[in-house]
Amino acid sequence: MILLVTDPLYRKKGFATKLLQGVLLTTEFIKVRKIFLEVSKQNRTAFEFYQKNGFFIIGQRKNYYVSQNNVDAFVLMRTL
Ligand SMILES: CC(C)(COP(=O)(O)OP(=O)(O)OC[C@H]1O[C@@H](n2cnc3c(N)ncnc32)[C@H](O)[C@@H]1OP(=O)(O)O)[C@@H](O)C(=O)NCCC(=O)NCCS
Repeated sequence: MILLVTDPLYRKKGFATKLLQGVLLTTEFIKVRKIFLEVSKQNRTAFEFYQKNGFFIIGQRKNYYVSQNNVDAFVLMRTL
Protein backbone atom coordinates (compact mmCIF):
# COMPACT_ATOMS: atom_id res chain seq x y z
CA MET A 1 0.00 0.00 0.00
CA ILE A 2 1.21 3.53 -0.80
CA LEU A 3 0.10 6.68 0.99
CA LEU A 4 0.77 9.81 -1.01
CA VAL A 5 1.08 12.98 1.09
CA THR A 6 2.86 16.29 0.53
CA ASP A 7 3.71 18.47 3.53
CA PRO A 8 1.07 21.26 3.56
CA LEU A 9 3.86 23.86 3.37
CA TYR A 10 5.00 22.47 0.01
CA ARG A 11 1.77 21.70 -1.80
CA LYS A 12 0.97 22.81 -5.35
CA LYS A 13 4.67 22.84 -6.26
CA GLY A 14 4.75 19.59 -8.23
CA PHE A 15 6.22 17.33 -5.52
CA ALA A 16 3.43 14.72 -5.52
CA THR A 17 3.59 14.63 -9.31
CA LYS A 18 7.31 13.84 -9.10
CA LEU A 19 6.70 11.16 -6.46
CA LEU A 20 4.00 9.57 -8.58
CA GLN A 21 6.25 9.63 -11.64
CA GLY A 22 8.88 7.80 -9.57
CA VAL A 23 6.37 5.13 -8.61
CA LEU A 24 5.22 4.75 -12.21
CA LEU A 25 8.82 4.38 -13.37
CA THR A 26 9.34 1.55 -10.86
CA THR A 27 6.23 -0.29 -12.03
CA GLU A 28 7.60 -0.44 -15.59
CA PHE A 29 10.26 -2.89 -14.44
CA ILE A 30 7.72 -5.33 -13.05
CA LYS A 31 5.46 -5.04 -16.07
CA VAL A 32 2.48 -3.45 -14.31
CA ARG A 33 -0.16 -2.53 -16.87
CA LYS A 34 -2.87 -0.97 -14.70
CA ILE A 35 -2.91 0.87 -11.40
CA PHE A 36 -6.00 1.05 -9.20
CA LEU A 37 -6.60 3.26 -6.18
CA GLU A 38 -9.32 4.57 -3.94
CA VAL A 39 -9.87 8.22 -3.13
CA SER A 40 -12.47 9.71 -0.80
CA LYS A 41 -15.37 11.37 -2.59
CA GLN A 42 -14.80 14.29 -0.22
CA ASN A 43 -11.13 14.69 -1.16
CA ARG A 44 -11.51 17.00 -4.12
CA THR A 45 -7.83 17.97 -4.09
CA ALA A 46 -6.60 14.39 -4.37
CA PHE A 47 -9.24 13.60 -6.97
CA GLU A 48 -8.08 16.55 -9.11
CA PHE A 49 -4.48 15.45 -8.63
CA TYR A 50 -5.12 11.90 -9.81
CA GLN A 51 -7.30 13.05 -12.69
CA LYS A 52 -4.53 15.37 -13.88
CA ASN A 53 -2.18 12.40 -13.74
CA GLY A 54 -4.20 10.18 -16.03
CA PHE A 55 -6.51 8.34 -13.62
CA PHE A 56 -10.21 8.04 -14.28
CA ILE A 57 -13.23 6.76 -12.36
CA ILE A 58 -14.16 3.13 -12.90
CA GLY A 59 -16.40 2.60 -9.86
CA GLN A 60 -17.10 3.45 -6.27
CA ARG A 61 -17.06 1.78 -2.88
CA LYS A 62 -19.86 2.62 -0.50
CA ASN A 63 -18.94 3.41 3.14
CA TYR A 64 -15.26 2.72 2.35
CA TYR A 65 -13.70 5.06 4.94
CA VAL A 66 -15.11 3.59 8.13
CA SER A 67 -12.98 5.82 10.36
CA GLN A 68 -14.23 8.93 8.49
CA ASN A 69 -18.00 8.63 8.98
CA ASN A 70 -18.29 5.94 6.30
CA VAL A 71 -17.47 8.30 3.45
CA ASP A 72 -17.71 6.67 0.00
CA ALA A 73 -14.66 6.24 -2.23
CA PHE A 74 -14.17 6.52 -5.95
CA VAL A 75 -12.17 3.72 -7.52
CA LEU A 76 -9.74 5.18 -10.05
CA MET A 77 -7.63 3.45 -12.67
CA ARG A 78 -4.75 4.36 -14.91
CA THR A 79 -3.24 2.26 -17.67
CA LEU A 80 0.49 2.36 -18.31
C1 LIG B 1 -3.09 15.35 -3.06
C2 LIG B 1 -1.68 15.84 -2.72
C3 LIG B 1 -0.78 14.60 -2.49
C4 LIG B 1 -1.16 16.66 -3.92
O1 LIG B 1 0.18 17.04 -3.62
P1 LIG B 1 0.92 18.27 -4.32
O2 LIG B 1 2.39 18.10 -4.09
O3 LIG B 1 0.32 19.54 -3.85
O4 LIG B 1 0.54 18.04 -5.86
P2 LIG B 1 1.17 18.72 -7.16
O5 LIG B 1 1.77 20.04 -6.83
O6 LIG B 1 2.07 17.72 -7.83
O7 LIG B 1 -0.17 18.99 -8.02
C5 LIG B 1 -0.36 18.46 -9.31
C6 LIG B 1 -1.78 18.75 -9.77
O8 LIG B 1 -2.75 18.22 -8.86
C7 LIG B 1 -3.90 19.09 -8.82
N1 LIG B 1 -4.02 19.71 -7.50
C8 LIG B 1 -3.10 19.71 -6.50
N2 LIG B 1 -3.56 20.42 -5.44
C9 LIG B 1 -4.78 20.89 -5.79
C10 LIG B 1 -5.76 21.70 -5.13
N3 LIG B 1 -5.58 22.18 -3.89
N4 LIG B 1 -6.92 21.96 -5.78
C11 LIG B 1 -7.14 21.50 -7.03
N5 LIG B 1 -6.24 20.73 -7.72
C12 LIG B 1 -5.08 20.44 -7.10
C13 LIG B 1 -3.65 20.16 -9.85
O9 LIG B 1 -4.18 19.69 -11.08
C14 LIG B 1 -2.13 20.21 -9.89
O10 LIG B 1 -1.65 20.74 -11.09
P3 LIG B 1 -1.39 22.35 -11.22
O11 LIG B 1 -0.46 22.73 -10.09
O12 LIG B 1 -0.78 22.47 -12.57
O13 LIG B 1 -2.74 22.98 -11.08
C15 LIG B 1 -1.67 16.76 -1.48
O14 LIG B 1 -2.68 17.75 -1.62
C16 LIG B 1 -1.85 16.03 -0.16
O15 LIG B 1 -0.87 15.58 0.45
N6 LIG B 1 -3.10 15.92 0.31
C17 LIG B 1 -3.39 15.25 1.57
C18 LIG B 1 -3.15 13.76 1.48
C19 LIG B 1 -4.04 13.12 0.44
O16 LIG B 1 -5.21 13.44 0.30
N7 LIG B 1 -3.43 12.14 -0.28
C20 LIG B 1 -4.14 11.37 -1.30
C21 LIG B 1 -4.91 10.27 -0.63
S1 LIG B 1 -5.73 9.22 -1.83
